[in-house]
Amino acid sequence: MDYYTLGNSGLKVSRLALGTMTFGDDWGWGADDAASRQIFDAYVEAGGNFFDTADLYTEGNSERMLGQYIKDAGIRDRAVIATKFSYNAESGNPNAGGNGRKNIMRAVEGSLERLGTDYIDLYILHTWDRVTPAEEVMRTLDDLVRQGKVRHVGLSDVPAWYAARAQTVAEMRGYESLSALQLEYSLVERNIEDEFVDFGTRHGAGIMVWSPLASGLLSGKYKPSQGEKPEGEGRLAVTAGSGNPAFEKFTERNWKIVSELEAVAGELDRSMAQVAVNWVANRPGVASVLVGATKLSQIEDNLGALDFEIPAELRRRLDQVSVRDPHFPYSFFIPEMQGMLQGGTAVGDKPPHYLPDRTFSAQGAGVTGD
Ligand SMILES: NC(=O)c1ccc[n+]([C@@H]2O[C@H](COP(=O)([O-])OP(=O)(O)OC[C@H]3O[C@@H](n4cnc5c(N)ncnc54)[C@H](OP(=O)(O)O)[C@@H]3O)[C@@H](O)[C@H]2O)c1
Repeated sequence: MDYYTLGNSGLKVSRLALGTMTFGDDWGWGADDAASRQIFDAYVEAGGNFFDTADLYTEGNSERMLGQYIKDAGIRDRAVIATKFSYNAESGNPNAGGNGRKNIMRAVEGSLERLGTDYIDLYILHTWDRVTPAEEVMRTLDDLVRQGKVRHVGLSDVPAWYAARAQTVAEMRGYESLSALQLEYSLVERNIEDEFVDFGTRHGAGIMVWSPLASGLLSGKYKPSQGEKPEGEGRLAVTAGSGNPAFEKFTERNWKIVSELEAVAGELDRSMAQVAVNWVANRPGVASVLVGATKLSQIEDNLGALDFEIPAELRRRLDQVSVRDPHFPYSFFIPEMQGMLQGGTAVGDKPPHYLPDRTFSAQGAGVTGD
């Protein structure tokens, strides 16, 4: 497993992180204790050090189980734990959810207790609540860093303008700045390429990809060559009709992408899941990919996703089938339009040799780079 620093921070994380939203069967599409432990053990055995959870995943059981497994394995110092707040823990109480200072202060104590630890490595706002000012969020997160309860901070599922505002406030006021953006990204969901990739790479926040397999659509359990109509299986079957946008994946466009993925995976003699994870892990701005599983065999498959390269021609086919229609204002940033700004000259951001290669090999300890 290779390790890289997350965003502009000095926190070293593995390129594959373990998503633990499936730890616990409380939602009807997770893994029980025995299977979750097997998944955890396989990930640690492979050298992974980066674990993602949230306060309300599987009603708090994800945090409880992860904390217990880390304790049993005796790897708290080695583990990098990311957890999140935002979702409401008490019906009828608006301050038991959202991103205000009162809720963040409440939520952090609950997470520390369930995880059985006295600090969180990366504390992430889970979802924008539309009302709390970025100043309040960043000031509160900075307080938690100064109190020693949190080491680094990040945002998930927010508009890009809000992330930019939060980072600017942090820089201007000397608060702990964002090291991570946790966002949905996969062959079928590429909308973050409009704003977040540029924001993250320019302003020091590494992208942590969630749902790289589109909740299972790209996992290989749906094979267009074997019939047009998806047979219900796994999470996407259980959640069908839930209205949650993360689970509404069976569109005509997406089915074409799954079809090309199946063909490319066949040519590479790799599983569809491995090719889908590999594709997204090698996109600009991506720091770490959160792999999730309900079975040991799935995590074993996914952990092999970075052992190979997708040749340029096959990558081009995947890029092309998943490309989105040009839309405003991004339609003005294409080379044809930019040529009108640059007087026909080719102006790049930085020459290819600009950044030094600071990758080094540590004997027996993998590779660490920026
Ligand atoms: N910040 C956010 O808003 C947010 C949102 C969602 C997730 N996340 C984080 O991201 C992590 C990963 O997200 P995700 O679970 O949605 O990822 P995903 O990779 O898109 O989906 C994982 C699911 O796909 C199926 N699967 C995985 N590997 C497979 C394989 N090799 N073969 C066949 N089926 C396979 C399993 O479900 P079945 O067996 O049920 O089919 C598994 O639970 C989560 O655990 C969580 O930590 C964050």
